[in-house]
Amino acid sequence: MTVFDVEKLREDFPILQKKINGKPIVYFDNACMSLRPRQVVEAIEDYYYNYPACGSRSVHKLGRMATEKYHESRQTISKFIGAKKDEELIFTRNTTEGINLVANSLGLKKGDVVLITDKEHNSNLLPWQILAERVGITYRVVHFSGDMTFSMENFEKSMDRSVKLVSMAHTSNLDGYTIPAGDLIKAAHDFGSLVMLDAAQSVPHKEVDVRKLDVDFLAFSGHKMLGPSGTGALYVKSSLQDRLSPFIVGGDTVKNTTLTSYELEKPPEKFEAGLQDYAGAIGFAAAARYLERVGRKDIEKHESKLNMHLTSEMSQFEGLRIIGPSHPELRGGIISFTVEGIDPHTIAMILDENANVMVRSGQHCVHSWFNEFGIPGSVRLSFYLYNTMDEAHIFFDELKRIITGLR
Ligand code: ALA
Repeated sequence: MTVFDVEKLREDFPILQKKINGKPIVYFDNACMSLRPRQVVEAIEDYYYNYPACGSRSVHKLGRMATEKYHESRQTISKFIGAKKDEELIFTRNTTEGINLVANSLGLKKGDVVLITDKEHNSNLLPWQILAERVGITYRVVHFSGDMTFSMENFEKSMDRSVKLVSMAHTSNLDGYTIPAGDLIKAAHDFGSLVMLDAAQSVPHKEVDVRKLDVDFLAFSGHKMLGPSGTGALYVKSSLQDRLSPFIVGGDTVKNTTLTSYELEKPPEKFEAGLQDYAGAIGFAAAARYLERVGRKDIEKHESKLNMHLTSEMSQFEGLRIIGPSHPELRGGIISFTVEGIDPHTIAMILDENANVMVRSGQHCVHSWFNEFGIPGSVRLSFYLYNTMDEAHIFFDELKRIITGLR
């Protein structure tokens, strides 16, 4: 696909051809889970129909095929994020598992500091809260500026040599804002700290190159980038792989064991215990190939266009507040908003009921931010490559009816 043609690529998504109660589906919940094109479903089906065996173990033909495809999938996905070596990519179930793997494997100890922000998903908050309880690490919180952009000043004030890891969401699932990761990584490295990016909301929507960023760990999910549910990956810079001890151990993580000893495999195998989701990895790679073909730069531009249009339309409603930086170009493909006097879940339910417009409402697993600001929740629209301007109009017309009808 050389020209970005949204109508053409929509044909690849069978769910978008369906209607519910005679109306088309408007799917604006992509930050939670994306839809899947038939190319991904077919890749999964191919595994189950033609070589449904275990990878990296059995020498028979089906086992060899599964091993080869699993290996190829690792190559595809590591290339997708610009990794130098395939072994730098560990398959996980999701971004959460990747972050937990680092938290539990890095050997952080009492007195070590982890730096996060005040707008982290629970997946990048809880692991540090638990480590603080269990081993006595400290986590420090960098606050965003009043305009909800990243404050380099606050960041630098929080940095010192006791910070061992900076762990932050690259793009926020709350408001779509992307932190200046390159500058921040450089500054953190100057203080001797490692950096992990929660890239669940960036890798699916924009070009992310781990080598250009020089990031140490990067966790992301397959199911937010057209891949199967329960798939993800963790990038670990090769020079750091020996510093991580495995978090879950068992089959395929060791070369040999005796009743009193063990010899661990090399990475990535030492981190992938037990039978893996081979079909999932293969579908995940098909998704990466699909996105590569469409082009992430065009996807990013397309989402931004939808965001700019709706932000401008929505500004006419008094009492409607968009969370995050005011300029839509700084909010990627996400519009998270509140309407004074109307519960976000009510808005989401009516949008769905009346117009099949599917959005997320609530606190989006960023409870700590909502609690900090005393906001009960928001309605969140999150766009992807297959969303259209017509869908934006359907949403807007219904929102208008809700706001004028309920107030
Ligand atoms: N992190 C996912 C979301 O934001 C679940 O919806």
